[in-house]
Amino acid sequence: MTRIFSGIKPTGHLTLGNYLGAVRHWVATDQRPDEALFCVVDLHALTIEHDPARVRRLSRQAATLLLAAGLSPEKCTLFVQSHVDEHTRLAYLLECTATDGELRRMIQYKEKAAQAQASGDGVRLSLLTYPVLMAADILAYETKEVPVGDDQRQHVELARDLAVRFNQRYGHTFTVPKATYPAVAARVMDLQEPTSKMGKSGGTGPGVVFMLDEPEVVRKKVMRAVTDSGDGGVVYDPVERPGVSNLLDLLAACTDGDPALLAEGYSGYGALKRDVADALVEVLRPVRERHAELAADPAAVEKVLREGAGRARALARPVVDRAYRTIGLLEP
Ligand code: TRP
Repeated sequence: MTRIFSGIKPTGHLTLGNYLGAVRHWVATDQRPDEALFCVVDLHALTIEHDPARVRRLSRQAATLLLAAGLSPEKCTLFVQSHVDEHTRLAYLLECTATDGELRRMIQYKEKAAQAQASGDGVRLSLLTYPVLMAADILAYETKEVPVGDDQRQHVELARDLAVRFNQRYGHTFTVPKATYPAVAARVMDLQEPTSKMGKSGGTGPGVVFMLDEPEVVRKKVMRAVTDSGDGGVVYDPVERPGVSNLLDLLAACTDGDPALLAEGYSGYGALKRDVADALVEVLRPVRERHAELAADPAAVEKVLREGAGRARALARPVVDRAYRTIGLLEP
């Protein structure tokens, strides 16, 4: 059995980048509920300035969208992180395993801490310890593979280091996980700033397509996408021509095509943009429709999450209990 675990943070509306880069691949892994765990990692949304009502709303929406995208409770365990206490229980033991220096070296910490400082909010301590909680998310389930985006490489590496260190010090307790990246890595870039990732928080508004955007909105954003300066025509060259290449990547991701080959079929940006817009609208349509149905019955979604948390807890409990014993804590 190859158990996989991944998480999505409810800090913003889920984007096309989340869908093409991650969620769609999760749906394609045809597995059993005890093999594939997907988690709305709500505790991680509290590491920066947050609005309680918004986190609540986004957590519910993320779970509903994951179901709408095709994650089914028959094939995976979908749950909310804060519903399973084992994550925070284990995080403390891992804080006693990690070092201060190790966490201050994290690239994302440095970036986000600088942002928080600049906006005068103060840096929450949880922003520093966040990768330890993420390691707990992973290690509590004896996870073997963690499908993530490239930006999470360093965090998964930390989870590995902590697992190895804990096992060496106290005896074998944790499975050592590794990060995996989707074979066709659809790295979706911002339509206005094609050198940065299309992110749910921090992206440019008009350059980010959200999974729930109405078709007209999707069209408008694509038609206004930047296509690099000068008129080099439609060529696939992610380094020199990031704007056009991003559009070709999107089309390729939607049509299972090859971006360089697709480029040959276009002489102008207008036609390319129209095709990209059509393709995105069609890819997102079924998800949007299913989301509307599911959102009309929140009790059904809550039931899935409750059952998911029950299953997750049953898997994590013995692992975390074992860690409590091996590290030197008395059995209650
Ligand atoms: N840190 C991840 C992100 O920002 C989200 C996350 C939290 C996660 N816990 C995880 C991903 C465990 C994989 C496994 O995208």
